[in-house]
Amino acid sequence: MPHANIEIPPKLPLFTQKDTVVFPYMLLPLYVSEKDIAVFREADSGEKYVALAFERPEDPKSEFPGGRCEIGTLCKVNQIKKQDDGRYKISLEGVTRLRILDTESAGAVTMAHCEIVREFVEKNLVSDALVQSLNALLKIALSHGKPLPEDVLKMIDYIDNPARLSDLVALYVNLPITDLQELLETTDPLDRLKKVYVHLTNEVQRIQIKNEVAGEVTKRVGKNQKEYILREQMKHIQEELGDEDPRSADMSELRRTIEEAGLPEDVKKIADKELKRLERINQASPEYNVARTYLDYLAGMPWKTSTTDTLDMVRAEEILNEDHYNLKKVKERILEFLAVRSLKENMKGPVLCFVGPPGVGKTSLGKSIARAMGRKFVRISLGGVRDEAEIRGHRRTYIGALPGRIIKELYRCGANNPIFMLDEIDKLGNDFRGDPASALLEVLDPEQNFSFNDHYLDVAFDLSKVMFITTANQLDPIPGPLKDRMEVIRLAGYSSQEKLQIAKAFIIRRELEENGLADRGLTFSDEALEKIINDYTREAGVRGMQRTVASICRKVAKEITQQKAARSCITTEAVTELLGAKKFHNEVAAEHDRIGVVTGLAWTESGGDILFIEATSMPGKAELILTGSLGDVMKESARAALSYIEAHADDFCIKPEAFENRTIHIHVPSGAIPKDGPSAGVTMVTALVSLLTGKPARRNVAMTGEITLTGRVLAIGGLKEKVLAAHRAGVSTVLAPERNRDDLEDIPENVRNDLQFIFVNEAAEALAVAL
Ligand SMILES: Nc1ncnc2c1ncn2[C@@H]1O[C@H](COP(=O)(O)OP(=O)(O)OP(=O)(O)O)[C@@H](O)[C@H]1O
Ligand SMILES: [Mg+2]
Repeated sequence: MPHANIEIPPKLPLFTQKDTVVFPYMLLPLYVSEKDIAVFREADSGEKYVALAFERPEDPKSEFPGGRCEIGTLCKVNQIKKQDDGRYKISLEGVTRLRILDTESAGAVTMAHCEIVREFVEKNLVSDALVQSLNALLKIALSHGKPLPEDVLKMIDYIDNPARLSDLVALYVNLPITDLQELLETTDPLDRLKKVYVHLTNEVQRIQIKNEVAGEVTKRVGKNQKEYILREQMKHIQEELGDEDPRSADMSELRRTIEEAGLPEDVKKIADKELKRLERINQASPEYNVARTYLDYLAGMPWKTSTTDTLDMVRAEEILNEDHYNLKKVKERILEFLAVRSLKENMKGPVLCFVGPPGVGKTSLGKSIARAMGRKFVRISLGGVRDEAEIRGHRRTYIGALPGRIIKELYRCGANNPIFMLDEIDKLGNDFRGDPASALLEVLDPEQNFSFNDHYLDVAFDLSKVMFITTANQLDPIPGPLKDRMEVIRLAGYSSQEKLQIAKAFIIRRELEENGLADRGLTFSDEALEKIINDYTREAGVRGMQRTVASICRKVAKEITQQKAARSCITTEAVTELLGAKKFHNEVAAEHDRIGVVTGLAWTESGGDILFIEATSMPGKAELILTGSLGDVMKESARAALSYIEAHADDFCIKPEAFENRTIHIHVPSGAIPKDGPSAGVTMVTALVSLLTGKPARRNVAMTGEITLTGRVLAIGGLKEKVLAAHRAGVSTVLAPERNRDDLEDIPENVRNDLQFIFVNEAAEALAVAL
């Protein structure tokens, strides 16, 4: 230790001050005023030593008392220099620690009786470890950017004296002055080293945290700053080019649309809130688009927009007649609706349900109604819709959520009172995705639909002005509650005569126009049309006929372009020439009467149809075989027929041997088409009796009717369709239940005249006619 053996004079001039603590080996300039210079002059004139002591401030929180401290520093005065400002700069060098024992004043100077504090350092493992740790810590501090002078660093590397090292490092740790004094007073070097180590660790941590925070802040500030600058520049460029900021233009446009949409108050509130939110969302984020689309829908819905109804009844009737032949009932119903509507402003729209086979004009009638009333026409097909969300939409929390089809179509159509056609309502599905039919209930119920709640829109929309029309091929598959809310209007299909009229009045004109033949004067002869209707199509509606006429028109058009001799009239020969061999044969006329084969009448989705029920028997065990994709009801009615015959075998002159050890087989072609229903009962009885008695059945007698075990014939549905089918097929006599006699009214005059009708109460009566 360089100062270990220093000798000091018995008394030293003492300088007490409040703002510095001097450590051994420390070089420092001290600036003092005229009044304090005497102490240093005193020293300068003698051995050049001075005692420096720190005066601790009074602090109630501190464990140390205020006043001059006992431990101070022996300093050597190296130089005294007067400054320009009148103060003195004293260059001092710390030498070693002193203990001040007592003081006495000698004029202006206080003299102190001191002793040197001797420090003993024993080098051991602990001290070595501490020195090394401190060294390492200093390097870390340095790497974190703590300013340390070069030469100190170099020094630190080779100072291994803990006393020396601790003093040196203490100078560079940022500590409050009282802590420095405490370090000075810690006279055990190892202790001191530990304290310095702790202080330095704290400081390194502080620096580290400070750096992190600063880094974060600069990063954030930097990014914001950059975006801000870029945006400002863009704005500037846009201003220069005369463009408006596209986003703000977009927003103000949206705001205007919302203002002008005439939203109901509660909806307006939601829209405003959503708009505010939208303004805060970054345009690039997916959420922006979600909010944007939603607002578009909110603003774009026809909350208040309606079209004005044409209430001119005469004109409306004209339009309905222009588009469709006959269909008197439907047209009347529409005109009634219009009449009420013209008397009462806000009437609830009825829900009409058009039921009928394909191609009878259900859909096109809807369009025509819209035209007659001057309303917009919207159509959605419900065929295969299984998901409730298709009707009512998805909640907006789902990704890609959209409103249901009702709301979507109204949005698109832009009026809140269109004719809304729900096509194919009988083909609605229903599975685990929810029940669309129950969602439709809400749509169609006038008591509920003034506040229809779409999951996506999430606000109620008033559907009460909409006139809903539904269509179906069959009434049965429509769920009961839904059926209950609709007014069913049946369109039964057309007779050949009606089809001819439709062709002449509508279809030919339309198809000629479609195929660019409008002004070529092409006509169709009535016979040709009848041939098309009877030999090339077999249907309840007119779609097939329309297609066939179209095909003829196309062929004629082709001939014209090929410069062939122009046709002026399509005759029966021309039809054969253009369409080839006829597609349908008269199955009734083509064959002769057979045993066990009876002509029946069926009612299918595509209207009425004739079918042949065949019965045969063979040796085997006594059983009944039923084939031809028959449904349960039809199978049961076959059993009932057989039981009735067995029970009344005597009446029909059937010998018991006919049943014994014989298997009876009933088959209904076409085998691939599923058939069901009880209305073939009479037919089966006739087929069985014909088989068992060996009397052939009259092929041109077609029959329908449900049978009971006692042989009574019960009423059936769809007589009109069945009769029309029989007429199409060339049957001469129709046998039907007595209870269906009233239905005869609905059947077109000419069909009624062509056919002979026999109404029966008992199966026996039918047998008398048919066998
Ligand atoms: N009475 C009629 N007068 C004039 N044209 C008719 C008449 N009935 C049907 N049509 C025409 O027949 C075509 C088929 O009709 P539409 O498409 O409306 O059938 P649909 O009853 O809706 O059948 P589907 O049940 O298969 O949907 C249309 O072009 C329509 O104009
Ligand atoms: Mg249709």
